[in-house]
Amino acid sequence: MAEYDYDVLVIGAGPGGYVAAIRAAQLGLKTACAESRDTLGGTCLNVGCIPSKAMLHASEYFEAAAGGAMSDMGIEVSPRLDLDKMHGQRRDAVEGLTKGVAFLFKKNKIDWKNGHATFKDAHTVTIGEETVTAKNVVIATGSSVTPLPGVEVDNAKGVVVDSTGALELPKVPKKMVVIGGGVIGLELGSVWRRLGADVTVVEFLDQLLPGMDGDVRKEAGKIFKKQGMELKLSHKVTGCEVKGKKATLTVEPSQGGDAETIEADCVLVAIGRRPNTEGLGLDAIGLETNERGQVETDHAFRTAVDGVWAIGDVIPGPMLAHKAEDEGIAVAENIAGQTGIVNHDVIPSVVYTWPEIAGVGLTEEQAKERGEVKVGKFPMMANSRAKTNHEPDGFVKVVADAETDRVLGVWCIASVAGTMIAQAAQAMEFGATSEDIAYTCHAHPTHSEAVKEAAMAVTGKPIHI
Ligand code: FAD
Ligand code: NAI
Repeated sequence: MAEYDYDVLVIGAGPGGYVAAIRAAQLGLKTACAESRDTLGGTCLNVGCIPSKAMLHASEYFEAAAGGAMSDMGIEVSPRLDLDKMHGQRRDAVEGLTKGVAFLFKKNKIDWKNGHATFKDAHTVTIGEETVTAKNVVIATGSSVTPLPGVEVDNAKGVVVDSTGALELPKVPKKMVVIGGGVIGLELGSVWRRLGADVTVVEFLDQLLPGMDGDVRKEAGKIFKKQGMELKLSHKVTGCEVKGKKATLTVEPSQGGDAETIEADCVLVAIGRRPNTEGLGLDAIGLETNERGQVETDHAFRTAVDGVWAIGDVIPGPMLAHKAEDEGIAVAENIAGQTGIVNHDVIPSVVYTWPEIAGVGLTEEQAKERGEVKVGKFPMMANSRAKTNHEPDGFVKVVADAETDRVLGVWCIASVAGTMIAQAAQAMEFGATSEDIAYTCHAHPTHSEAVKEAAMAVTGKPIHI
């Protein structure tokens, strides 16, 4: 009889966990996956990437029709919003994709154990009523919303909500206040602004989107303001009172000063996410978390406890689905005795607003801290396809090492920046110089030509500016 029930038990079926389970099974390991939700796919498929993109895509069409962009191209329409139907197509997308993961589990003979998993020891885990043993256990429990003291989220009531509640609003709020000018605040704030809400973003720092390149942050601020979002930078919310269907927020300058109040019929709290380790029984296996509550691992995703591995949002690094997925593949390969690696220096990030905002590698500021750099920039206004499509906002910026010309970072604001950034990530993965990109033939007319021209600008020779 086998010593353990399974070779691998993955805890959590988000993009990290379900991908790890599939790769482990593909490699011939007997695999189970514990998931407390009733559907697979984790935050990403159920309440994150997928439903938010469904609402972003649909609201983008609505705004194009209602806001005049279509009219600029000679298409006259006066749209009527059917919000229930818009929510319906979002739910359909989620249902289709989560069922798709269930199908992949079946196809790969992965046992899905539905319930909350808790360690009894490093190889024994209880999942609801059941106890399962495994030679290797992968913690892929993800993250959840960071609460803001004094601002209590109640998604069912719909006045003060987190991202999950903001995806489900039954009606377009008249006035929405978003606390936090990060990725969630800007994406979901954009959805409801496009559908008619008057949106104010309260951000603690003096610019939006911390972690992104400085020029990108400044330009993003200008673009969102132009779109009609009110930005209260360098401000914090210090209190929130809810009466019936209205909230009154107390807001003051981050560094102290006179407080003011803002009334809203919807408040979205989006100040970050924190790792999920509660109720996991880490004490039982003697695994400590770091000061940010994350589980630390080595480069192979091994934790300090033999046989226990960890990936995704629960470990350090950007909280992104594709990072979790790549770690899922790598951890399974390492468990199978292969060499699974993730290059954490080249993880693209994309904000799916209009225009999209994307980056990979070092910001100009980070690169300058490490040494001399050369920077090339190209405005989307001078890109023929963007201009033809009435998409003048944004730019591409390439940051390269001054001595070796190796590309250290690429940043874009453009309608399809999320797609454009893939070529930059691939170039960086191959150790490309800016000259390599500049001398790669790019199809015309495409937005991606702006990446080529920004690379040409690194040595001062773009053609179209
Ligand atoms: P998760 O997806 O969080 O999955 C963890 C799973 O583990 C959950 O289903 C949870 O129920 C389960 N679980 C936790 N503890 C236990 C336990 N003890 N027992 C059993 N099950 C347990 N990222 C992008 O890259 N692109 C995007 O466009 C994007 N959009 C987002 C939009 C929103 C609104 C949000 C909230 C997030 C978004 N993200 C996006 C982030 C992305 O969702 C996460 O980075 C990703 O889901 C992390 O994957 P994970 O597998 O580590 O964890
Ligand atoms: P975030 O970290 O992106 O942004 C939070 C913002 O809130 C920051 O700008 C921060 O300065 C601000 N803030 C913190 N405390 C504050 C306070 N008290 N008052 C006012 N502002 C305050 O976090 P967010 O937007 O909640 O997203 C969580 C995670 O989800 C992100 O790390 C991101 O990686 C992931 N995500 C990714 C998406 C994508 O890839 N497109 C989309 C949505 C989420």
